[in-house]
Amino acid sequence: MVQQRIPEEIIEEIKARLDIVQVIGEALPLQKKGKNYHGLCPFHSEKTPSFSVNQEKQFYYCFGCGAAGNIINFMMNYHGQTFLEVISGLADRAGVVLPQREETEEEKAKRKHRERLREVNELAGKYFHYLLKESDVGRLALEYLNKRGLTVETINKFNLGYAPNNWDSLIKVATKRGFSEKELLQAGLVISRERGSGYYDRFRNRVMFPIYNPSGRVIGFGGRVLDDSHPKYLNTPETPIFNKKNNLYALNWSGQEMKSKDQGIVVEGYMDVIVAQQYGIENIVATLGTAFTREQAQLIARYTSNVVIAYDSDVAGQAATLRGMEILRDAGCRVNVMQLPHGCDPDDYLRKYGKQKFISYFNNEAVSLVEYKLKHAIDKYGLSSISGKAKIVQALIGDLERVESAVEKEHYIGVIASRLEISETAVKQELERISVTRSNNKIEDKNVKNRYTNQRVKSKDEGIMPARKQAEQQLFWLMLEDQQIMNTVEAELGDDFFTDKTVCDLYNKAKQLQKERDKISPSVLMDRCTENEELELLGKLFAKDIDSLSNVKQLVKDYTNILKQSKKQERIRQLQKELHEAETTGNQTKTIVLLTKIQQLVSSD
Ligand code: GTP
Ligand code: MN
Repeated sequence: MVQQRIPEEIIEEIKARLDIVQVIGEALPLQKKGKNYHGLCPFHSEKTPSFSVNQEKQFYYCFGCGAAGNIINFMMNYHGQTFLEVISGLADRAGVVLPQREETEEEKAKRKHRERLREVNELAGKYFHYLLKESDVGRLALEYLNKRGLTVETINKFNLGYAPNNWDSLIKVATKRGFSEKELLQAGLVISRERGSGYYDRFRNRVMFPIYNPSGRVIGFGGRVLDDSHPKYLNTPETPIFNKKNNLYALNWSGQEMKSKDQGIVVEGYMDVIVAQQYGIENIVATLGTAFTREQAQLIARYTSNVVIAYDSDVAGQAATLRGMEILRDAGCRVNVMQLPHGCDPDDYLRKYGKQKFISYFNNEAVSLVEYKLKHAIDKYGLSSISGKAKIVQALIGDLERVESAVEKEHYIGVIASRLEISETAVKQELERISVTRSNNKIEDKNVKNRYTNQRVKSKDEGIMPARKQAEQQLFWLMLEDQQIMNTVEAELGDDFFTDKTVCDLYNKAKQLQKERDKISPSVLMDRCTENEELELLGKLFAKDIDSLSNVKQLVKDYTNILKQSKKQERIRQLQKELHEAETTGNQTKTIVLLTKIQQLVSSD
């Protein structure tokens, strides 16, 4: 993708020092087959390897789903990293030092501002923590936390605190330390008075839970009342450094643990996380009072692809669980749900039954998405009627289809069959019938997402491509392979002959590259792609083997001809339209001129 920040030469230097086969080979097994390496595509589910890595041209392409790109695209898509993260990782590996670009004044100011916001949050965190532990005003809050079973170590580890019952305690402390009221406002720590001027503390008389970013800096707070008043929790609003959709509570502590256990637990409440960690269950995070997002799924997927959701089992919790599971599944995770007894959250359960019981509950009662949906579909449609059973199977087919492992799929088919007291064959037939109907109608399932990029996976069957489009793609490919061909074609057709948008955009990029470098390198061209369609088309084209073509010259001629003819046809159609107009308006002269033109065009070759 186009990036101005790091010079292209540096990026090329990095790529030149690394081998895409080795880097991808570390992520998935590859086997050499002919010139290329093959493996199972990590971006869609398949049993026969259709993912190929081309060492010579340093790119990958999946014949099954169209995923394509160079080493950088692979790292971004596979590991869910940003461009800059990938570059800095690969630069390290390649031993290339990235240039430190001068920041613009604006960037510098922004960076400093964000740093100030983190600092003021950290100051607030220290102040609240101090009040909780050392002051009289914090005594009740400390008692409250003790009553909820938290140890001193836990209170320290999570830096829990107490915001006093005053309107300006934090304002006073922070301004004394050199922070402005405006900074406090932008950090979400104070609120503007509606009447008159000035500000007041947002958090008052609450137990404070500092929220950290993955690198361990305080970026916001959740504050809980000490009694039953409302709202129970108050969170920092969105600020330049605090985004609820992009962060997870406790990820800074649990990330490593999720990685080493290769499993993560997602819960709803801060207290659930804290209590679980106190009990030694450390691979656990919580959302920040909002629904689970794709960004959060991708965040987790960096550490593990096995996730268990343990939400409340009330109605809202069930809906949130389903949605969360689907998002995680679409991010490539294997996801299970732990259904705790009604009215019981992980915190309650742990304190009531202890760690061992929690873990065995976790191991024995957690069910997959398919099983979870099965249970809900049974509740909804019942098991007493045939039509109800049919509806249940229907409701589950989409999820069954998306189960990647054949063994698991077989298992679920068995589970469904036995729960519904029908034969496995019937479930299988239903599964087949639906996939056949899908492919017959060429319905692209909009919900099938690329595991890592969340982009829709295209159906393998793109239908028959119009001759014109086919010719454009082929010709463009030949031009890329041999730039002499580019000159020949341009001499014949001018420079405006591609009509397909993707081909056209790529052609312009290739021309630009040729102008700058003389040589069009596939991998550099891929770096300049701005659309996924462009990458996919390049992958598809470069995956072909030009050496297997017997008569390239003739092919170029044929394709050029198709484009020429089709351009001519277009011109003729245009003239015919004008002719029709001229006739209706009775413009004799124009009619004759147009007719002659059309005749000339038709008889030319
Ligand atoms: P405890 O009663 O302290 O055990 O709370 P909990 O951790 O069990 O929280 P609960 O299940 O009630 O809510 C889960 C999460 O939702 C909390 O951790 C908050 O992030 C968020 N939340 C709960 N209540 C509110 C509220 O009133 N307002 C907002 N904005 N968020 C809330
Ligand atoms: Mn709770």
